Amino acid sequence: MSDRDLRAWMAQLDAEGDFKRVTAKVDWDDEISQIIRKVYVQGGPALLFENIKGHEKTFSTKLFTNGLGKHSRVNLMLGLPKDTSPADTIKIIRQRMKKPLEPVRVKTGPVKENIVKGKDVDLFQLPVPKWHPLDNGRYINTFNATVTRDPDTGLNNAGVYRGTILSKNKIGVLLMPMKDWGITYSKYQEMGKPMPVAFVYGYDPTLIVVAGSPVIGPEYNLAGALRQEPIRLVKCETSDIEVPAAAEIVVEGFMSPDPSTYEVEGPFGEGSGFYGEARKRPVVEVSCITYRNDPIFRGSLVGTKEGITEIRASVSNMMSVVLWNILEAAEIPGVIDVASGPITAVKIHKTYQGQARQIAAAMWGSKFAGHPFNIIMVVEEGVDIRNPAALMSTMHSRVNFNRDLVVYPLYMGSPIDVSLAYDLRAELEYGAAVADKLLIDATTDWQLHPPREEWGGQRFPPDCHYSLPETEELVEKRWKEYGL
Ligand SMILES: Cc1cc2nc3c(=O)[nH]c(=O)nc-3n(C[C@H](O)[C@H](O)[C@H](O)COP(=O)(O)O)c2cc1C
Repeated sequence: MSDRDLRAWMAQLDAEGDFKRVTAKVDWDDEISQIIRKVYVQGGPALLFENIKGHEKTFSTKLFTNGLGKHSRVNLMLGLPKDTSPADTIKIIRQRMKKPLEPVRVKTGPVKENIVKGKDVDLFQLPVPKWHPLDNGRYINTFNATVTRDPDTGLNNAGVYRGTILSKNKIGVLLMPMKDWGITYSKYQEMGKPMPVAFVYGYDPTLIVVAGSPVIGPEYNLAGALRQEPIRLVKCETSDIEVPAAAEIVVEGFMSPDPSTYEVEGPFGEGSGFYGEARKRPVVEVSCITYRNDPIFRGSLVGTKEGITEIRASVSNMMSVVLWNILEAAEIPGVIDVASGPITAVKIHKTYQGQARQIAAAMWGSKFAGHPFNIIMVVEEGVDIRNPAALMSTMHSRVNFNRDLVVYPLYMGSPIDVSLAYDLRAELEYGAAVADKLLIDATTDWQLHPPREEWGGQRFPPDCHYSLPETEELVEKRWKEYGL
């Protein structure tokens, strides 16, 4: 049975000519991230840094990044033709996620080739970059799955949650109480017990894409569905959590339930493009590290101004999938397409007044309201929802500001949303941030725009962006004559 791991994925990228080894000596302190920033802007390849200053002799010497920094690579991950359009990729992901694949449990695997416990644990052995100049140290957790286990159901949950190395055996994390591991943590707090945690670095890319998105259902099964092959799991050494047997590195540990153990985490350069502030937050004390021989560390740069980051190319596709699934579960008819971005755009075939408000209420009424999607725009057929200019022009022609801009006040929001007041973003105090949301209903308002005879029974005047077909043909034929 095959089990695509990070190495197989890198080989696939290499065979496509979309992979580059950086053999020049580079500094983990700011230099690596600036290289990645430039590669994002160029739309460049996946990168394996093989020669990192200070890591010539550590147990891990290499860093892999930007595996997913292009839509074509996301298609490759799914085994699709590289030029499959984002709209089609989303449809295929939705189909596959309807058939989750149960993982296969195995006794051991490559990740158990080396086991380090207790005093021998030293996180500084990992070639973790300092991603932004003002980051509070080296953020080890940027593009890895964090796995916890619900004490009631025994189910594994995988999420992507940032974390920084505080000392040889401590990782400070941003835990939002409303996220799945936050809910699990509150159960451990009620029991007065430390929560076991496992951080998984370097594996099949589908796992990170699913873990970084608010999917409904067990992430291992859904990642299996995306790659169309079950994930093979082994048990951790110091807890019952299960992790991929072919992962590069797994860091195991425990999070104390006692807030007096919290330490300062942050600032960190976030996906918003701004530094998230420092606050006292939970800490994971590391109990064990297991790793393959010559393990490859995995991380990713977020918070860039230009270019396509890995997260934009991969996780935002998944956000479209997740939001569309919510509308499907709520049985809202007429949804044609969903595109997540700074504005979440939904294309519908409108069949009743109030449809757009129902869509916004369903999305923000879901547990995912705490994700940074505070603007939803609903449009009808004929609008390219992945084109910001088309959205702006639709706003101009369809929106009556007094009726169609609807604010949903005091909702659950994202603590990394810097438009919110500093105090309203205190995630441990409020459980989530407090945010207002905006719906832009850019569908035709049937009350304001009844069908009109002079427009052939349509609600809007015909658009005027064309000539008669015979004139278009004539101009095509004579084009050279005009000397233009
Ligand atoms: C690169 C990256 C970093 C993230 N950092 C955090 C974080 O620090 N804290 C957090 O709560 N969510 C973070 N997220 C979002 C979560 O991964 C996302 O909400 C996911 O759905 C969490 O899993 P859950 O739904 O099982 O809680 C991050 C996502 C990505 C892709």
